[in-house]
Amino acid sequence: MTHKPPTPNPEWVIHRFESVNSTNDVAIRMAREGAPEGTAVIAGEQTAGKGRLGRSWSSPAGDGLYLSAILRPDLPFDQVWQTGFVASVAAAEAIGKVSALPAQIKWPNDILLSGRKVCGILTEALKPAVTPSPFAIVVGIGVNVNNSSFPAEIAQKATSIAFELGRPVKLQKVEGAILSRLHTRYAQYLSEGFAAVLEAWKNLDCTIGRRVVVLTDDSAVGGIAMGVDSRGDLVVEREDGVVVCMAAGDVTLLDTT
Ligand code: BTN
Repeated sequence: MTHKPPTPNPEWVIHRFESVNSTNDVAIRMAREGAPEGTAVIAGEQTAGKGRLGRSWSSPAGDGLYLSAILRPDLPFDQVWQTGFVASVAAAEAIGKVSALPAQIKWPNDILLSGRKVCGILTEALKPAVTPSPFAIVVGIGVNVNNSSFPAEIAQKATSIAFELGRPVKLQKVEGAILSRLHTRYAQYLSEGFAAVLEAWKNLDCTIGRRVVVLTDDSAVGGIAMGVDSRGDLVVEREDGVVVCMAAGDVTLLDTT
């Protein structure tokens, strides 16, 4: 493990590693040991990168940004999911800024470029050992930056910033933009509440008005996505006119824009 001076984001203290199993796992361990809010863990490679729903996250050396940030908001535990939305907005804005391409969010936490996934977010929470101290949230952000190929099972759905631009991109630039937007959006969330984040989300949401199928463990719900409600649920109008609110699942967009 090496400690380098933080990048120009004074609010973050960054711990850099060449290779770890998962930056989320390292950050969870550090949070358990008392690491403060604003701690960030960044690795050059992950040997067991974790995705949502128990999936893995392909994390080859040097190609991607693998970053986990520790947050300790003084909020009820049942609002933890909101920080995933904060991170999604921040990541989409950062990737949009660095690439000058329209990055969009696909509910709940996928960031897309040209309809393909360029970034994923995994939020994990730790209840405090001693209450009422605030619990810790680890927000893990993985960005495909310079990847030129992907594992077969995601090859049709994934992209990288470099692939979309046709030229390599500096990892530090993406890192700086992500940390900066995450700081700004998190501060806004704490001061103005979730409504402000949701407002920004709506402008980046690529599902609104589109035909979708939402797959959960035991169902497939098809219809027109109407957006995200204040609980973070995806609202879908089925073909029979019934409106359902989906709290979890994977969205497939059926039509092209
Ligand atoms: C997903 O879309 O399934 C979420 C992917 C999250 C990947 C990031 S990479 C940094 C952090 N460490 C992990 O093990 N996972 C997250």
